[in-house]
Amino acid sequence: MQLDLPKWFDLHTHFRQGPAVPAYIQAHIDMGCAGVLAMPNTKPPIARVTGEPDAESWTIERYLNELKANGADVFEQVIVPLYLTRNTTPAMIADGAESGLLRACKYYPPHGTTNSEHGVPMKEFLDGDILRAMEENNLVLCIHGEQHALPGEDYLAANRNAEAIFYRETMPRLLEAHPNLRIVCEHITTAEAARFVRKAPDRVGATITPQHLLYTLGHLIQGLKYHLYCLPVVKFDDDRDFLRDAATSAGQSKFFAGTDSAPHTTKATECGCAAGCFTGGCAPQLYAMAFEESRIDLSSKSGRESFERFLCLNGPAFYGFPASTERFGLERSPCKTEVLETADGNVTPLPSGLNLDLTWSLR
Ligand code: DOR
Ligand code: ZN
Repeated sequence: MQLDLPKWFDLHTHFRQGPAVPAYIQAHIDMGCAGVLAMPNTKPPIARVTGEPDAESWTIERYLNELKANGADVFEQVIVPLYLTRNTTPAMIADGAESGLLRACKYYPPHGTTNSEHGVPMKEFLDGDILRAMEENNLVLCIHGEQHALPGEDYLAANRNAEAIFYRETMPRLLEAHPNLRIVCEHITTAEAARFVRKAPDRVGATITPQHLLYTLGHLIQGLKYHLYCLPVVKFDDDRDFLRDAATSAGQSKFFAGTDSAPHTTKATECGCAAGCFTGGCAPQLYAMAFEESRIDLSSKSGRESFERFLCLNGPAFYGFPASTERFGLERSPCKTEVLETADGNVTPLPSGLNLDLTWSLR
C-alpha cells in the first residue's frame, strides 16, 4: 500500500541551538516536512522578538536567521513562538505582531519540563495585559498544559494527574477571561484534555504526538524504556483511546500533527532522565502506524482523508497558512530507524530506542 500526500507540517518541534541544528533540520526535511513550529525553550530562551541576543535571552529574529542559515530556508513556514517570561511586555507583543516575526507565544509551566524554569504560573497571566495584547493581535497561545509544582502523588495517579488538573481547573478560566484568544493545547495526553478541546470553541485546537497515540505508561515502565520518556508523560490506555478517537474521527478540524520531537544527546543521567522523544526522520511513519492501531484503514478513501487532515491540512488551516502543494510518499513496508549522528553527539530515534521497526517507510 502506498500513500501520496501533500507535504506535512510539524507544528511542534525542537531544533535546539548549536552544531547539531543542521542535522535536526535535515531529519525533518527528509521526512517530507514542509514547515515547522520550532519551540523556544533553548538556552538562553527565545524571550524577545528583535534585537541582539544577550546572556538572558535570544530573539525570534536571531533564531529564525540561525535556523534558515542551517537548512530551514527550504521550509514553506517556520514559526518560532515567543517564550512567555516575567520580562514579556504587551508592547513586545504588539510590536512583534506588527513586524510579522511574532505569530505565537508559548506558555511553559515553571519547572514543568526541559528548560522551563523561565515560565510563569498561568494564574499570573489570566485576565492580564499580555494575553489581552495577544488577543488583540490575533496571535496563537501554545500551551504546555500541566499544573506545576504538584507533589508526586498528585502529579500522576490512577485518577488524577497534572494535565487533567490543568484542563479541569485552569483552562475553563482562560477561555472565559480571553474570549478571542486562539489557543493550541500542545501534546495532549489525557481523556480530559481531548474532551476539553472537542467541546471548546473552534479557536481552540490541539497537537498530538505519535508517541501519545501509540504508547502507554505500561510501555514506558516495562523495561524502563527511557527513550519513551517525555513530558507530559504517556498515560493510560483509556486516555490513548480518547486521543486516537480525536485524531482520527472523520472531518475533524481541531487536532493536528505536532511531534514534540525533542532530541537529547544524553537521555539517561545518574540522577534522572531528560524528557523528550526524538522522532526526526520517522514521524509520518509513526503517525501512519498510530492510525492503523486506531483501526483506520489507510487503503480506504475515508481513512486516507482523515490521515491527511490530521497530518497535512488541519495545522495550516488553524494557523492560517496554505497547505503545501508539494507531495511526499509513504509505503507500507517495514524499515529500521538509525541513530542520528550529529556534531553534538548521537541521538536515538524513538523506534530504535524501543527496539521496534517501523511498519511504514518513506518512499
Ligand atoms: O518531553 C519533552 N521534551 N517535553 C517538553 O515539553 C520539552 C521537550 C524538550 O525540549 O526536550
Ligand atoms: Zn515540546
